[in-house]
Amino acid sequence: MRIKANQKIFFCTNTKMAKNLQQSVEYLQELEILTRDLKDKIDLVVIPPYTALYTVQKLAHGYITIGAQNVCRSEETENTGEISAGMLRELEIPIVMIGHSERRRSFGETDEDIALKAKCLTEKGMSVLLGIGETLKQKENGESEEIINHQIKTALKNVETENYGLIRVLYEPAWAIGTAGKVADPDYVGRIHTAIRESLIQIMGEELGNVVPILYGGSVNEQNALSIFRQPNVDGLGIGRSAWNAAMFNKIIRNVLAFNEKYWEGEKNYAENIK
Ligand code: PGA
Repeated sequence: MRIKANQKIFFCTNTKMAKNLQQSVEYLQELEILTRDLKDKIDLVVIPPYTALYTVQKLAHGYITIGAQNVCRSEETENTGEISAGMLRELEIPIVMIGHSERRRSFGETDEDIALKAKCLTEKGMSVLLGIGETLKQKENGESEEIINHQIKTALKNVETENYGLIRVLYEPAWAIGTAGKVADPDYVGRIHTAIRESLIQIMGEELGNVVPILYGGSVNEQNALSIFRQPNVDGLGIGRSAWNAAMFNKIIRNVLAFNEKYWEGEKNYAENIK
């Protein structure tokens, strides 16, 4: 466990292309009604597709943060089909996910591209949800920690020290995401999150590296959320499919909060019973 009793827990959901504009609006409204009493206890980020961003951002009542799924690596005009950090800032989008494994895999995004994106965003004062994660092959070759370390180092190489506070890390092993996903063993998640923390401390120094939130994502659901959350250096959860139903997302959030409260109320052995 890492999150303290009164510390906000991070939750985010990237809705990919699963929801159109109307569905995104309805989802936001339902999620807000269900979770608004938790606003002092959670940092909740909803990441709809570009086509819904403007509308959803206007409708959001403030405590749910609206993020974007991607950004162009450049601010130059000649990038047909892309959306720049400046354009997202104009919509008052405060946080942007970069480096999601689907973008790395299907659109050939490299660590260098991701570094450029991180630069564009942080220069504009926007937060970065940095997606990192190894492939199955890399895991099987025992390279996970090395890959993770390289991804973080490269992504942050152009980010100014004073902007480190804008970084949030989302660790999602490529092999554990989506319908083809295997489910990660909680101990493995804990091991990799600790390696991520070490990389962050190496780059940013003890003080800053220790406070960057690290979220876990990849087939998180009602059954496995607690056993993942209780791992060291897990500050929150990034949930896809299981969060796209607002009632289910609300249920998972409340389960995690209840678990955290019980843990800090002195029932630490409660945590030991969660496998
Ligand atoms: P999943 O998606 O929870 O459906 O595996 C996670 C993600 O891609 O963020």
